[in-house]
Amino acid sequence: MEIRKITVIGAGNMGHQIALCAAMSGFQVKCTDTNPDILAKAIAFADNYLKERIIKGKLSEEAANKALGNLAFVPTIEEAVVEADLVIEAIIEKLEVKRELFSQLDKICPAHTILATNSSYIVSSKIADATNRPEKVCNMHFFNPALVMKLVEVVQGPHVSEETVNLVMNAAKEMNKTPVLLHKEIYGFLVNRLLQATRQEALKLLDMGVASFEDIDTAAKNGLGYPMGPFQLLDLTGLDLAYHVGMEKYEESGDPADRPSPTVVEKFTKGEWGKKVGKGFYDYEQ
Ligand code: NAI
Repeated sequence: MEIRKITVIGAGNMGHQIALCAAMSGFQVKCTDTNPDILAKAIAFADNYLKERIIKGKLSEEAANKALGNLAFVPTIEEAVVEADLVIEAIIEKLEVKRELFSQLDKICPAHTILATNSSYIVSSKIADATNRPEKVCNMHFFNPALVMKLVEVVQGPHVSEETVNLVMNAAKEMNKTPVLLHKEIYGFLVNRLLQATRQEALKLLDMGVASFEDIDTAAKNGLGYPMGPFQLLDLTGLDLAYHVGMEKYEESGDPADRPSPTVVEKFTKGEWGKKVGKGFYDYEQ
């Protein structure tokens, strides 16, 4: 088996860029979202992104047209998965919603289709038993922004076959990514475990009133050489995501220390979810 046709479910923050990245790498891609506005935004983004690349001299017109020809945004999930070799799920970070989707995917996808989740924290063994093909269900974790960031974490849970892992690793390489393989499932995988340590401390320092979020970002950038401060990164990845991740972890562990920090709860409640809504810690309105 070879992966040629990729379907991305969810065209939000991550999905629209994963889809475009795959299309630019020569895969035939279909992308869908339950929200028509998000789908329209994703189509406009792909057009603009490719046009800008041409203007900047980074992409030929021919390559851009080829990428557009490879990419279809479709309104229904049934239409999206018809011939998929690999489905990459990029919907809301909620276990029950993902399980429901995977159960549906199992029923409507061809028998050979690999079902991967882009989840930041949920390991695929929590989802695989919602399907009748657990050996074909794994984590394929991209980073934000998916068109730029090279890393992809592939996780081989105990239920995942060697063939699935090899195919997914190869697909990531063909997307011009640098995949790493985790031989064990672990909460947060590699990068988010490292990131979480910094983020927790940054939020704690802010909640304690030790410094402003701007100065904590400045400290991380200028003292640690980070390309982006923890609050800038929170704005980019979404305060809603940070909230849901914290709640999922707390509900599972029951440990109050796992609860989202007061600042994250406040931002989530106010709808200040970061760059995608124009306001998070920083203001993005023009
Ligand atoms: P998002 O909220 O920006 O996008 C999710 C999209 O899925 C929304 O547009 C929503 O309308 C759509 N959706 C929801 N249910 C659906 C369904 N049943 N069928 C089709 N579309 C559906 O979320 P985001 O940030 O893109 O996150 C998606 C996943 O990617 C999450 O699991 C998250 O953990 C993971 N992730 C997020 C990163 C980030 O920086 N935001 C980084 C890496 C992974």
